[in-house]
Amino acid sequence: MNVLLIGNGGRENAIAWKIFNSDSFRNTDSRLFATQTNPGMKKYSESVDIAPDNIKGLIEFSVREKIELIVVGPEKPLALGIADEFEKKDFKVFGPRKNAAEIESSKIFAKRLMMKYNIPTASFREFSRDSIDQAKEYLKDCKFPLVFKADGLASGKGVMIAENIIEGEDILKDFYEGNFLNEAADNFIIEEFIEGEEVSVFAICDGTDFIVLPYSQDHKKISDGEKGKNTGGMGAVAPVKKFMTEDLNEKIISKIITPVLNALKSEGREYKGCLYCGLMIKDNEPNVIEFNCRFGDPETQAVLPLIKSDFLEMLYSASTKNLKNYVLEVNDLNTCCVVIASGGYPDKFETGKKISGTEELDDNCLLFHSATKSGIDEDKEELVTAGGRVLSVVGISDTSPEEAIKSAYENVNKISFENKYFRKDIGFRIVNKNGV
Ligand code: AMP
Ligand code: GLY
Repeated sequence: MNVLLIGNGGRENAIAWKIFNSDSFRNTDSRLFATQTNPGMKKYSESVDIAPDNIKGLIEFSVREKIELIVVGPEKPLALGIADEFEKKDFKVFGPRKNAAEIESSKIFAKRLMMKYNIPTASFREFSRDSIDQAKEYLKDCKFPLVFKADGLASGKGVMIAENIIEGEDILKDFYEGNFLNEAADNFIIEEFIEGEEVSVFAICDGTDFIVLPYSQDHKKISDGEKGKNTGGMGAVAPVKKFMTEDLNEKIISKIITPVLNALKSEGREYKGCLYCGLMIKDNEPNVIEFNCRFGDPETQAVLPLIKSDFLEMLYSASTKNLKNYVLEVNDLNTCCVVIASGGYPDKFETGKKISGTEELDDNCLLFHSATKSGIDEDKEELVTAGGRVLSVVGISDTSPEEAIKSAYENVNKISFENKYFRKDIGFRIVNKNGV
């Protein structure tokens, strides 16, 4: 089967690795192409120099290369309608159409849908740049902390949390003056802060049936102890067993995944692909913090090593309404993914720093590239940093989460570049420690 993977970050490096190692790929005459591959993806896929949002160019390429499955990694092409355009030409796509992807591309749409169908989520109010005065008045009666979310896509950086009214007014000022996220924040919501344990749930959906992958836990704040600004995610662990009871598991399916998929369907927005449910567990009850229309990054790097059954077959079954015949098998392993970032991220940072040590990692540890490129001296396979989140190092253990965390950090310490930054406490919530 010829497969085209859209995207080139850490998540797509993990997806390429997993497709490449699927029996249905290896044992057949198959090719995997990916858009503008980063150096880590080169082992598994052939690079196609077409941007992920050049849908016309990607369709022309897919016709030429007889692509049988398109797998879409990032949200932006989905929000632009890449699945709709490919499906019009009879291609099979893993990823939702534009009207279903709106569950991520508009937080206001997602919130209204949850309210209408009684899906548990934080209470909220909608505002726009034109109603800043009303928002200011509203703050006076609110309990803090309070969460501010831009309506549009913001690469994981559209959420701000105010601890008190002064911080709240500063955030409103930024929204009003357009300092923050431009059009993505023309409309925004202010929502209740929910305390609890965060869990990321990936539901693989085919429009009718769904399967749930092992749960993971992301660490979104930039600093240890969940402090500082939100990022796209600084590390993740999987599976999450510590506070996941059978009862909670059942509630996630019956109160969240099933009703939201039914809701989307009854609104004419049938969902196919990976539905990411970002949940906050409070008093053994799940609440939705956000929905995303794709796999999470870095959760994917932690979750995919746990899948034992054929991954490519899973993606294909979801794209062809055949999930009921797919049997998901998982490995009895623990993983810990630590993201190595450029110092300064998520604000200003420098790129082009020479990376060393990537060849020295232990055999049972995985390395996925998020933002790297080949240096000037390509013959020496020189690698340099090319973005905020640079590499994902995944420790794996068949004994305990503690061992997976230890392995991840031992290997993170083998890699160096100027201003390298990483959190030192990934996984602390599932092992009850304050760092390693
Ligand atoms: P989001 O992009 O909506 O997932 O938000 C980013 C992060 O902000 C989440 O992963 C949470 O850590 C935090 N967050 C968002 N909404 C809430 C909320 N209502 N209560 C508490 N924390 C939140
Ligand atoms: N790690 C969070 C996300 O992918 O949105």
